[in-house]
Amino acid sequence: MPNKKIKNKRALVTGATGGIGNAIVAAFMESGMKVVGAGSNRLKLEELSARFPGLIIEKADFTDPNDVERLATSALNHYNGLDVLVNNAGIGISGNVVDTSIEDIRNMLYINLSAPIILSKIIGEYMAAAGSGHIINIGSGASYTPISGMAAYCASKYGLLGFSESLALELREYGVKVSIITPGSTATAFGGGVPDARLINKPGLLLPSDIADTVMCLLYQSERAWTSQVNIRPLNPNKKPKN
Ligand SMILES: NC(=O)c1ccc[n+]([C@@H]2O[C@H](COP(=O)([O-])OP(=O)(O)OC[C@H]3O[C@@H](n4cnc5c(N)ncnc54)[C@H](OP(=O)(O)O)[C@@H]3O)[C@@H](O)[C@H]2O)c1
Repeated sequence: MPNKKIKNKRALVTGATGGIGNAIVAAFMESGMKVVGAGSNRLKLEELSARFPGLIIEKADFTDPNDVERLATSALNHYNGLDVLVNNAGIGISGNVVDTSIEDIRNMLYINLSAPIILSKIIGEYMAAAGSGHIINIGSGASYTPISGMAAYCASKYGLLGFSESLALELREYGVKVSIITPGSTATAFGGGVPDARLINKPGLLLPSDIADTVMCLLYQSERAWTSQVNIRPLNPNKKPKN
């Protein structure tokens, strides 16, 4: 249902082709926002575009910093500016650092950390000049919890938390909000998982819509209020909620 406060807001959602990104795009489109959805997989982008008439899709591979810069400029041009940037794209490759290829480590840092910084730099500059805007980063429980076998992933997500909190202090005086949502395990294909299979083992796991609802809560807040960080956890991962 379109809401006056956020209707027509212009947003870029990265990782739009994935589980959480899909849910955020759906919530934005349903609210009457103007949305650019980015991903690196052409086929998945075309499927997304078929599901959401009016959605603008952008193919960009975040392992290439030049492609990230191009996306930022192109996304700003579609609607003559942006009000919301959701840095959601991310990959999680498991394995001890000593057993992980340098290419996998580099890609994780490029996609999960460098790309949000480059996008925030270029789009944040526009927002600061406009005097408003909201950058929402999708971190993780791994933004502040050490996990054996996920050291490089943790490094990217700890980094994103530090970046988000510091950037927020830089941009608040321009009227631009920066927030980070740090979800626990969510039923998506992240890290090669199968969403339905994850729910069989843990029926109370978070759903992508839970993260999208939280993004919407942030956007509904008054101009006065800024939430810097939201931790979302399943109430009880082992028990399916009543509704
Ligand atoms: N699911 C969880 O349990 C969980 C928990 C905490 C935090 N998170 C975070 O939530 C975010 C979304 O994850 P998800 O669960 O929705 O996973 P997902 O379904 O696997 O989605 C990942 C997204 O990242 C994009 N991506 C991957 N490689 C890319 C590249 N080279 N260039 C540009 N985009 C790329 C994918 O797009 P293409 O396929 O089109 O490349 C996809 O849209 C991630 O940042 C993740 O760290 C997830």
